[in-house]
Amino acid sequence: MTQQRLYQLIYISDATGPVTQTILDDIAIQAKIYNAGVQITGRLLATDKHFIQVLEGGKGEVEALMGKISEDKRHHNLRILSRGPVVGREFSQWSMGVKGYLDEQEQQDMIQILNMYGANHSYSEEQVEALYFLIQKA
Ligand SMILES: Cc1cc2nc3c(=O)[nH]c(=O)nc-3n(C[C@H](O)[C@H](O)[C@H](O)COP(=O)(O)O)c2cc1C
Repeated sequence: MTQQRLYQLIYISDATGPVTQTILDDIAIQAKIYNAGVQITGRLLATDKHFIQVLEGGKGEVEALMGKISEDKRHHNLRILSRGPVVGREFSQWSMGVKGYLDEQEQQDMIQILNMYGANHSYSEEQVEALYFLIQKA
């Protein structure tokens, strides 16, 4: 991994049912063990209906994990916001920092941006940037 270029993937998804603390704890436990082993770091935010996650690491490792995550029945309708090489790790301190229950403002910001996923079923660069900013500050 050390010599390999760093790769980052960001997606959002809709939760299949209500996002409970138990669900978040389960994901955090799975992620802590697995991600550390494959040197993936990142951040997961959740509202009561949505997940937004950043994964960073080697391309093969990130895409392999994304393959597993996309088959997880706890969410569906995954939308990739961006994927590609990045210069450095943004979330190096977490194998997967999980934050549920955003504060009122964060929740509103996120829902507002999520709702912008309009008729053409994609986000603009500005919208992805806004979401990324939210993930960094939340
Ligand atoms: C929103 C969401 C995010 C997840 N993030 C991770 C993660 O970062 N790392 C991880 O190992 N599993 C994560 N999982 C769990 C995986 O989908 C899967 O359950 C886990 O990797 C175990 O898969 P396996 O039983 O096929 O090995 C996540 C699940 C959900 C619903």
